[in-house]
Amino acid sequence: MSYEFPVTRTQHPKPKPDQSNLGFGKYFTDHMLIMDYDAGQGWHDGRIVPYGPISLDPASCVLHYAQMMFEGMKAYLTPQGKINLFRPDMNAKRLNRTNERMCIPPMDEELFLDAVKAIVKVDADWIPTQPGTALYIRPYIISDEVSFSVEPAEHYHFIIILCAVGAYYDINRGGLTGSHIYVEDEYIRAAVGGTGFAKVGGNYAGGMRATKKALENGCKEVLWLDAHEHKYVEEVGTSNAFFMINDEVITAPLGGSILPGVTRDSTITILRKWGYQVSERRLSIEDIEKASKDGTLQEAWATGTACVISPIGYLRYKGEDIVINGGDVGPVSQKLYDYIYGMQTGVVEDDMGWIVQL
Ligand SMILES: Cc1ncc(COP(=O)(O)O)c(C=O)c1O
Repeated sequence: MSYEFPVTRTQHPKPKPDQSNLGFGKYFTDHMLIMDYDAGQGWHDGRIVPYGPISLDPASCVLHYAQMMFEGMKAYLTPQGKINLFRPDMNAKRLNRTNERMCIPPMDEELFLDAVKAIVKVDADWIPTQPGTALYIRPYIISDEVSFSVEPAEHYHFIIILCAVGAYYDINRGGLTGSHIYVEDEYIRAAVGGTGFAKVGGNYAGGMRATKKALENGCKEVLWLDAHEHKYVEEVGTSNAFFMINDEVITAPLGGSILPGVTRDSTITILRKWGYQVSERRLSIEDIEKASKDGTLQEAWATGTACVISPIGYLRYKGEDIVINGGDVGPVSQKLYDYIYGMQTGVVEDDMGWIVQL
């Protein structure tokens, strides 16, 4: 079964932004998709309407108790003028895992995918074409139940908005650079049993205090340590983290506190296919420091939809820098970036069957 969504076109299309200065989340497209949920009726009345403010009762549950979730993915324009989505089925599955944790009703995966395709097609002329740019897709669900009872709502809105986004590596004209990352040993992001594996706003609100600290220390992002012992590395800002020590590529296991990234899964699968040894195991910050001192720490990088692959050049830990690969981009990070980003943008053949073309 495929789903259709009636379209009300805007009478006031906006001018397209300058592609050399897009930023992240500044330039939203002309339309958005909205769908409602009511208990007994399920998800219904999906429709595409002009982009604009939504009206919410000030007592809506989401504004007080944060019962919400979101997803994040990108659409790219290929040199042949086709639109590529990267593994959108993974986002659909993650949406339902988050929904389950947040007591938000599940959504048929096909309904989610058809909704994403429909809104991207309507605003296809917004997909930027300069290297590193993309159309960012932000699906989210909010509970608009009017109640102060702390219990799951029976009414929700599902919304998809789109924005043209710039290259993550703006300062290097789209080329990779080794970033400075702050190792946070005071605040925590998520504990096992909490909502770390789910994509919910509260995880990010609670992390802002540490991000502020990282920025004050000249770092771009935070490397989170585990909540229990503040010892084992978990993830970096809005990305998963990988460390290559003695030819072994190590990333934190999905134990409940880490977001299962689509790019993380893709990186593990590709590296194993290329013959690398990849371990999903706990790794302490002390072991990373030791490997840096004895010369066995080869590379580190972060993976995520926004950056694809972001090499880590320095880890600021307890006031000192752990230098990785002389602060430069390593060969494995570069090879992964070229392959994944090439596949996403249609310049490298998709031999994994991961691209969904519209
Ligand atoms: C906390 C966190 N970890 C990891 C990721 C990377 O996930 P993905 O590769 O699906 O973008 C994200 C971004 O969605 C994130 O917010």
